[in-house]
Amino acid sequence: MFKLGSLSLQSKLFLSPLAGYTNLPFRLTLRELGGLDLATTDLVNARSLIERNPKALKLIETSAADRPLAVQLFGSVPEEMRDAAQYLESIGVSSVDINMGCPVRKVCRVGGGSAMMTETDKTAHLVKGMVDAVKIPVTAKMRLGWDDENLTAPDLARALRDVGVSAIFVHGRTREQGFSGGVNLAGIRAVVDAIPGTPVVGNGDVISPEAARTMFDQTGCAGVSIGRGAFYNPWIFRQTLDYLSSGNIPTEPPFAERIRVLRRHYDLMVEVFGEQHGSRMFRKVGPWYAKRFGPAHHFNKGIVSIATRSDFERVLGDYLIWRQQFVDETGELKPNYQPPPMVASFMEEPAVARRESIPVPKGPVEVW
Ligand SMILES: Cc1cc2nc3c(=O)[nH]c(=O)nc-3n(C[C@H](O)[C@H](O)[C@H](O)COP(=O)(O)O)c2cc1C
Repeated sequence: MFKLGSLSLQSKLFLSPLAGYTNLPFRLTLRELGGLDLATTDLVNARSLIERNPKALKLIETSAADRPLAVQLFGSVPEEMRDAAQYLESIGVSSVDINMGCPVRKVCRVGGGSAMMTETDKTAHLVKGMVDAVKIPVTAKMRLGWDDENLTAPDLARALRDVGVSAIFVHGRTREQGFSGGVNLAGIRAVVDAIPGTPVVGNGDVISPEAARTMFDQTGCAGVSIGRGAFYNPWIFRQTLDYLSSGNIPTEPPFAERIRVLRRHYDLMVEVFGEQHGSRMFRKVGPWYAKRFGPAHHFNKGIVSIATRSDFERVLGDYLIWRQQFVDETGELKPNYQPPPMVASFMEEPAVARRESIPVPKGPVEVW
């Protein structure tokens, strides 16, 4: 379905790296729901990886079910990026992605992330060193450019194609834009046109199967990568593949299935990070599931302070009892349910998400 260098992927949909979220539990949860093949880690500092820093090793933690896997590296020292890529290949990682889009000062200051988009020759040299050193595919993830006056993505894409990258992932915004405004599909199209024959994966604001279709149709991209839409709707990959092949709007999973997947994600979190840390990490994950539960403030209030499994079970159990006042015998919201204004924004949406935008999660990575 999608040829990425030597890899034959079963899906043209990809998971975008989301620092703090695209960890092993999330990837496994998504993979089990279908429609996703190549998934990625959060960005990892190349030097930390070479030094076998325990935090960096935790970021690339994986399992047999977590295949094929891409690891996203950031860094600006060619030898470090090369050595990190070789290490990843030696431990069986399927492909290496290079972060050229991160606008966070800490990353740009040392010449990584978005700063790489401003120095085409230097960046191409670094990438060539990686491509020449490994057999696995090397890809690059960029924005459209530093700002509107410097839309360098097409030129950079050409330079990277010439040194052998297997695909370009492009988020259709500039670094200056952060997450404001809409995604610029014409900007992505310009990258597609710049490197015919090399796959370009479009990214940005895909939060429904219809939005994915629009991305494919208007940009001519070979694949679509989904970030925030995946934690807003973990079923989005399966739903999108179904929609693209049949044209039918997929039905939303029932409430019971949403709870099953929430639980599964929590269990994996505890398995990978331990009960205490996993529970704490789940505090910011739970509310994303709850956005599609209908009335959920009771749940959100409790989930943000869980520290143990019994906290989790108590919050979920109490919530399910509290929610009964709003539902019919099938567990779905009563047709006449009228949310109070405060809750309306969290209301479950029709068959497929039609929100025009999804919030950027709070935290130090707000500017991604
Ligand atoms: C919380 C958060 C963390 C992110 N972390 C990364 C990252 O580690 N590496 C990266 O290349 N992009 C990162 N991004 C950018 C996303 O991969 C993606 O390009 C962007 O969110 C647009 O796609 P979306 O609208 O589907 O979310 C991050 C975005 C967010 C919101």
